[in-house]
Amino acid sequence: MNDDGVAGWADEIERVVEATRFDAGRVRVFESCGSTQDPARDLGVGSVVTTGLQTEGRGRLGRSWIDTEGRGIAVSLGLELVDPAVLSVAAGLAVLTVLRGVCRPEHAGRIGLKFPNDVVDRESGRKFAGILVEADPSVAILGIGINVRTPSRPVASPAIAIDELVAEDRTPERLPLLLELLRQIDRLLDLRIDELRFRYEREHIPTGREVRIESNGARYEGRLESLDPFGVLLLRESGTGRVREFAASQVRLERW
Ligand code: BTN
Repeated sequence: MNDDGVAGWADEIERVVEATRFDAGRVRVFESCGSTQDPARDLGVGSVVTTGLQTEGRGRLGRSWIDTEGRGIAVSLGLELVDPAVLSVAAGLAVLTVLRGVCRPEHAGRIGLKFPNDVVDRESGRKFAGILVEADPSVAILGIGINVRTPSRPVASPAIAIDELVAEDRTPERLPLLLELLRQIDRLLDLRIDELRFRYEREHIPTGREVRIESNGARYEGRLESLDPFGVLLLRESGTGRVREFAASQVRLERW
Protein backbone atom coordinates (compact mmCIF):
# COMPACT_ATOMS: atom_id res chain seq x y z
CA MET A 1 0.00 0.00 0.00
CA ASN A 2 1.22 3.50 -0.82
CA ASP A 3 1.13 5.58 2.33
CA ASP A 4 1.84 8.95 0.73
CA GLY A 5 -1.68 9.92 -0.29
CA VAL A 6 -5.19 9.49 1.01
CA ALA A 7 -6.73 7.81 -2.07
CA GLY A 8 -9.27 5.23 -0.92
CA TRP A 9 -9.22 6.34 2.72
CA ALA A 10 -12.78 7.65 2.77
CA ASP A 11 -14.27 4.35 1.57
CA GLU A 12 -12.30 2.34 4.10
CA ILE A 13 -13.18 4.67 6.97
CA GLU A 14 -16.86 4.68 6.03
CA ARG A 15 -16.85 0.87 5.98
CA VAL A 16 -15.27 0.62 9.42
CA VAL A 17 -17.44 3.25 11.08
CA GLU A 18 -20.64 1.48 10.01
CA ALA A 19 -20.19 -0.70 13.09
CA THR A 20 -19.47 2.20 15.46
CA ARG A 21 -21.05 5.33 16.98
CA PHE A 22 -19.60 7.42 14.12
CA ASP A 23 -21.63 8.39 11.09
CA ALA A 24 -20.42 7.19 7.67
CA GLY A 25 -22.24 10.18 6.13
CA ARG A 26 -20.06 12.55 8.16
CA VAL A 27 -16.68 11.18 7.18
CA ARG A 28 -14.39 13.64 5.41
CA VAL A 29 -10.88 13.02 4.16
CA PHE A 30 -8.80 15.94 2.89
CA GLU A 31 -5.49 15.81 1.08
CA SER A 32 -4.54 18.90 3.02
CA CYS A 33 -6.36 21.15 5.49
CA GLY A 34 -5.72 23.71 8.23
CA SER A 35 -6.95 21.97 11.37
CA THR A 36 -9.20 18.90 11.25
CA GLN A 37 -10.92 20.26 14.37
CA ASP A 38 -12.83 22.91 12.40
CA PRO A 39 -14.64 20.77 9.80
CA ALA A 40 -15.35 18.18 12.51
CA ARG A 41 -17.06 20.85 14.59
CA ASP A 42 -19.14 21.99 11.60
CA LEU A 43 -20.20 18.41 10.83
CA GLY A 44 -21.19 17.81 14.47
CA VAL A 45 -21.74 14.62 16.45
CA GLY A 46 -20.67 11.49 14.56
CA SER A 47 -18.09 13.21 12.37
CA VAL A 48 -14.71 11.74 11.47
CA VAL A 49 -12.33 14.17 9.78
CA THR A 50 -8.82 13.34 8.72
CA THR A 51 -6.22 14.67 6.31
CA GLY A 52 -3.05 13.64 4.54
CA LEU A 53 -1.39 16.87 5.63
CA GLN A 54 -2.49 19.24 8.38
CA THR A 55 -1.04 22.73 7.95
CA GLU A 56 -2.34 24.50 11.06
CA GLY A 57 -2.67 21.79 13.67
CA ARG A 58 -3.59 23.00 17.14
CA GLY A 59 -2.17 21.60 20.34
CA ARG A 60 -3.12 22.14 23.98
CA LEU A 61 -2.49 25.40 25.82
CA GLY A 62 -2.36 27.41 22.58
CA ARG A 63 0.53 25.41 21.15
CA SER A 64 0.81 24.19 17.56
CA TRP A 65 0.82 20.57 16.44
CA ILE A 66 3.30 20.33 13.61
CA ASP A 67 3.63 17.63 10.99
CA THR A 68 5.16 19.44 8.04
CA GLU A 69 5.61 16.34 5.90
CA GLY A 70 2.27 14.60 6.46
CA ARG A 71 3.92 11.64 8.14
CA GLY A 72 1.47 11.31 10.97
CA ILE A 73 -2.21 10.81 11.64
CA ALA A 74 -4.39 13.84 12.30
CA VAL A 75 -8.00 13.01 13.07
CA SER A 76 -10.88 14.82 14.75
CA LEU A 77 -14.04 13.14 15.99
CA GLY A 78 -17.37 14.78 16.81
CA LEU A 79 -18.80 13.24 19.99
CA GLU A 80 -21.68 13.75 22.38
CA LEU A 81 -20.78 16.16 25.16
CA VAL A 82 -19.41 14.24 28.12
CA ASP A 83 -16.70 15.06 30.64
CA PRO A 84 -13.68 16.00 28.45
CA ALA A 85 -11.50 13.90 30.77
CA VAL A 86 -13.44 10.80 29.73
CA LEU A 87 -12.74 11.52 26.07
CA SER A 88 -9.06 12.15 26.56
CA VAL A 89 -8.57 9.10 28.80
CA ALA A 90 -10.38 6.84 26.31
CA ALA A 91 -8.39 8.35 23.43
CA GLY A 92 -5.06 7.93 25.24
CA LEU A 93 -5.80 4.28 25.97
CA ALA A 94 -6.93 3.72 22.38
CA VAL A 95 -3.74 5.22 20.94
CA LEU A 96 -1.68 3.14 23.35
CA THR A 97 -3.35 -0.08 22.23
CA VAL A 98 -2.96 0.76 18.55
CA LEU A 99 0.73 1.67 18.85
CA ARG A 100 1.55 -1.38 20.94
CA GLY A 101 -0.14 -3.46 18.26
CA VAL A 102 2.46 -2.44 15.66
CA CYS A 103 5.66 -2.10 17.67
CA ARG A 104 8.13 -4.87 18.40
CA PRO A 105 6.94 -6.84 21.43
CA GLU A 106 10.09 -5.98 23.38
CA HIS A 107 9.26 -2.26 22.99
CA ALA A 108 5.60 -2.42 24.00
CA GLY A 109 6.38 -1.42 27.58
CA ARG A 110 8.11 1.74 26.42
CA ILE A 111 4.82 3.30 25.33
CA GLY A 112 2.73 4.77 28.11
CA LEU A 113 0.59 7.70 29.20
CA LYS A 114 1.46 11.03 30.75
CA PHE A 115 -1.22 13.12 32.36
CA PRO A 116 -3.33 14.63 31.05
CA ASN A 117 -3.25 13.85 27.35
CA ASP A 118 0.03 12.51 26.06
CA VAL A 119 1.22 9.15 24.82
CA VAL A 120 4.94 9.09 25.52
CA ASP A 121 8.14 7.08 25.41
CA ARG A 122 9.09 5.81 28.88
CA GLU A 123 12.82 6.07 28.10
CA SER A 124 13.15 9.50 26.50
CA GLY A 125 9.92 11.18 27.60
CA ARG A 126 9.26 12.16 23.99
CA LYS A 127 5.75 12.22 22.65
CA PHE A 128 4.24 9.72 20.22
CA ALA A 129 0.83 11.32 20.25
CA GLY A 130 -1.16 14.22 21.62
CA ILE A 131 -4.85 14.68 22.30
CA LEU A 132 -6.92 17.84 22.26
CA VAL A 133 -10.54 18.12 23.37
CA GLU A 134 -12.45 21.23 22.33
CA ALA A 135 -16.03 21.48 23.55
CA ASP A 136 -18.84 23.49 21.99
CA PRO A 137 -22.36 23.83 23.40
CA SER A 138 -23.53 20.97 21.20
CA VAL A 139 -20.52 18.80 20.40
CA ALA A 140 -17.15 17.77 21.79
CA ILE A 141 -14.34 17.55 19.26
CA LEU A 142 -11.73 14.96 20.12
CA GLY A 143 -8.56 15.62 18.12
CA ILE A 144 -5.75 13.10 17.99
CA GLY A 145 -2.34 13.53 16.41
CA ILE A 146 0.01 10.54 16.11
CA ASN A 147 3.60 10.60 14.88
CA VAL A 148 3.79 7.59 12.60
CA ARG A 149 6.95 8.06 10.52
CA THR A 150 10.06 10.00 11.47
CA PRO A 151 10.41 13.19 9.39
CA SER A 152 13.19 13.18 6.80
CA ARG A 153 14.61 16.35 8.37
CA PRO A 154 15.06 16.64 12.14
CA VAL A 155 12.45 18.88 13.76
CA ALA A 156 12.96 20.92 16.88
CA SER A 157 10.24 19.27 18.91
CA PRO A 158 10.20 16.71 21.68
CA ALA A 159 8.52 14.15 19.44
CA ILE A 160 9.12 10.51 18.55
CA ALA A 161 7.46 8.51 15.79
CA ILE A 162 6.26 4.95 16.22
CA ASP A 163 8.44 3.74 13.33
CA GLU A 164 11.38 3.92 15.76
CA LEU A 165 9.91 0.99 17.68
CA VAL A 166 8.89 -1.11 14.69
CA ALA A 167 11.00 -3.76 12.94
CA GLU A 168 12.97 -2.18 10.07
CA ASP A 169 11.16 -4.02 7.29
CA ARG A 170 7.76 -3.01 8.66
CA THR A 171 7.11 0.69 8.22
CA PRO A 172 3.71 1.36 9.76
CA GLU A 173 1.08 2.76 7.42
CA ARG A 174 -1.34 5.42 8.48
CA LEU A 175 -4.66 4.11 7.24
CA PRO A 176 -4.66 0.73 9.05
CA LEU A 177 -3.58 2.49 12.25
CA LEU A 178 -6.36 5.03 11.86
CA LEU A 179 -9.00 2.36 11.26
CA GLU A 180 -7.92 0.46 14.35
CA LEU A 181 -7.89 3.69 16.33
CA LEU A 182 -11.53 4.35 15.43
CA ARG A 183 -12.53 0.83 16.50
CA GLN A 184 -10.65 1.14 19.77
CA ILE A 185 -12.06 4.54 20.67
CA ASP A 186 -15.56 3.33 20.00
CA ARG A 187 -15.02 0.34 22.30
CA LEU A 188 -13.33 2.29 25.07
CA LEU A 189 -16.05 4.93 25.18
CA ASP A 190 -18.44 2.15 26.19
CA LEU A 191 -16.45 1.38 29.35
CA ARG A 192 -17.47 2.58 32.78
CA ILE A 193 -15.47 5.34 34.42
CA ASP A 194 -14.06 2.89 37.00
CA GLU A 195 -12.64 0.69 34.27
CA LEU A 196 -11.17 3.65 32.37
CA ARG A 197 -9.58 4.90 35.62
CA PHE A 198 -8.10 1.51 36.40
CA ARG A 199 -6.58 1.15 32.93
CA TYR A 200 -5.25 4.71 32.89
CA GLU A 201 -3.60 4.46 36.31
CA ARG A 202 -1.88 1.24 35.25
CA GLU A 203 -0.32 2.93 32.22
CA HIS A 204 0.59 6.28 33.74
CA ILE A 205 4.38 6.45 33.49
CA PRO A 206 5.15 9.26 36.01
CA THR A 207 3.39 7.48 38.89
CA GLY A 208 6.03 6.30 41.36
CA ARG A 209 8.62 8.76 40.03
CA GLU A 210 10.04 11.95 41.50
CA VAL A 211 8.12 14.77 39.84
CA ARG A 212 7.57 18.50 39.92
CA ILE A 213 4.03 19.76 39.57
CA GLU A 214 2.44 23.15 39.23
CA SER A 215 -0.97 23.83 40.71
CA ASN A 216 -2.68 27.23 40.90
CA GLY A 217 0.60 29.07 40.39
CA ALA A 218 2.62 27.16 43.04
CA ARG A 219 5.20 24.42 42.49
CA TYR A 220 5.68 21.23 44.48
CA GLU A 221 8.23 18.43 44.24
CA GLY A 222 8.07 14.88 45.48
CA ARG A 223 7.06 11.34 44.65
CA LEU A 224 3.89 10.94 42.65
CA GLU A 225 1.97 8.39 44.71
CA SER A 226 -1.12 8.16 42.52
CA LEU A 227 -3.07 10.01 39.90
CA ASP A 228 -6.76 9.50 39.24
CA PRO A 229 -7.46 11.35 35.96
CA PHE A 230 -11.03 11.99 37.11
CA GLY A 231 -10.16 12.86 40.70
CA VAL A 232 -7.12 13.58 42.80
CA LEU A 233 -3.37 13.45 42.53
CA LEU A 234 -1.39 12.41 45.63
CA LEU A 235 2.13 13.75 46.02
CA ARG A 236 4.56 12.75 48.81
CA GLU A 237 6.44 15.99 49.24
CA SER A 238 10.22 15.94 49.28
CA GLY A 239 11.60 17.06 52.62
CA THR A 240 8.50 16.79 54.80
CA GLY A 241 7.38 13.39 53.46
CA ARG A 242 3.84 14.67 53.84
CA VAL A 243 1.25 13.46 51.32
CA ARG A 244 -0.60 16.34 49.68
CA GLU A 245 -3.75 16.06 47.66
CA PHE A 246 -4.50 18.06 44.51
CA ALA A 247 -7.43 18.12 42.11
CA ALA A 248 -5.92 16.44 39.05
CA SER A 249 -7.70 18.89 36.76
CA GLN A 250 -5.74 21.76 38.39
CA VAL A 251 -2.32 20.20 37.98
CA ARG A 252 0.40 20.39 35.37
CA LEU A 253 3.21 17.86 35.48
CA GLU A 254 6.30 19.94 34.78
CA ARG A 255 8.99 17.35 35.37
CA TRP A 256 8.68 13.58 35.65
C1 BTN B 1 -1.21 18.31 22.17
O1 BTN B 1 -0.42 17.41 22.42
O2 BTN B 1 -0.99 19.48 22.52
C2 BTN B 1 -2.48 17.98 21.42
C3 BTN B 1 -2.22 17.80 19.96
C4 BTN B 1 -3.48 17.47 19.19
C5 BTN B 1 -3.23 17.42 17.71
C6 BTN B 1 -4.42 16.94 16.94
S1 BTN B 1 -4.03 16.54 15.26
C7 BTN B 1 -5.72 16.38 14.90
C8 BTN B 1 -6.43 17.50 15.61
N1 BTN B 1 -6.40 18.72 14.82
C9 BTN B 1 -5.73 19.69 15.43
O3 BTN B 1 -5.59 20.84 14.98
N2 BTN B 1 -5.24 19.26 16.60
C10 BTN B 1 -5.61 17.88 16.87
